[in-house]
Amino acid sequence: MRLILLGPPGAGKGTQATFIKEEFRIPHISTGDIFRQNLRDNTELGQKARVYMNKGKLVPDDLTIELVRDRLSREDCKYGYLLDGFPRNLVQAEALSQFLEERGESLDAVIDIEVDKNSLVERITGRRMCKDCKASFHIHNYPPREEGKCDHCGGELYQREDDREETVLKRIGVYEEETSPLIAYYDRQGKIQKINGNASMEDVKAEVLEALREI
Ligand code: AP5
Ligand code: MG
Ligand code: ZN
Repeated sequence: MRLILLGPPGAGKGTQATFIKEEFRIPHISTGDIFRQNLRDNTELGQKARVYMNKGKLVPDDLTIELVRDRLSREDCKYGYLLDGFPRNLVQAEALSQFLEERGESLDAVIDIEVDKNSLVERITGRRMCKDCKASFHIHNYPPREEGKCDHCGGELYQREDDREETVLKRIGVYEEETSPLIAYYDRQGKIQKINGNASMEDVKAEVLEALREI
């Protein structure tokens, strides 16, 4: 199964990805997580990406596309994958189409998680993420059992550098301008599965899994 998770910052892409990857046993590939790992490891890619990420801007397409092509070419992606945060504009979507065409493959579905704008900032500013397994928690909505510690792996929880309110508003603006046109792009291909992301995490999970079982 080859899937894309689309939705604004804070929509719950990472949260739902955890459920989808368990259910369908496919790798979860989040470009944001890969960039953040590079930031932490202080690689050349991490140093380049940091400048853009901390301003809420997109990392340049050439860097991002090369990274994704390389990742999707690995053995564990042979039978499918779940892309989270890629593609994020039309150039990246075209690059992915070309990659799939070269390999005689196609996408199964694009899950579009829709959430009201006013909930996004609240969700993101309260988020805490696990340093190790990248799971998302929320200080009010989904607090970890033990403060500062991941329920799944015991890893340390932290707040992302780009989760300050002014950066979040910029990221939402970038989504509206550059990423949201992808909804129409994939709708024309008959791939879009619209999900109401305003419900509880469990209800969203049920809707996503039901939509995917039907494709
Ligand atoms: P990325 O890491 O992809 O961030 P994003 O798209 O802004 O999305 P988030 O990770 O913030 O939100 P999410 O939808 O995963 O929500 P989550 O499940 O955590 O990208 C970061 C940056 O990297 C970009 O700005 C860019 O600079 C760069 N980048 C990445 N990909 C790129 C690309 N392809 N091209 C160029 N640049 C790229 O949930 C959020 C919070 O809400 C959590 O606290 C969670 O517990 C809570 N929550 C989840 N579900 C619910 C619910 N149903 N009800 C209530 N609360 C909920
Ligand atoms: Mg995420
Ligand atoms: Zn963890």
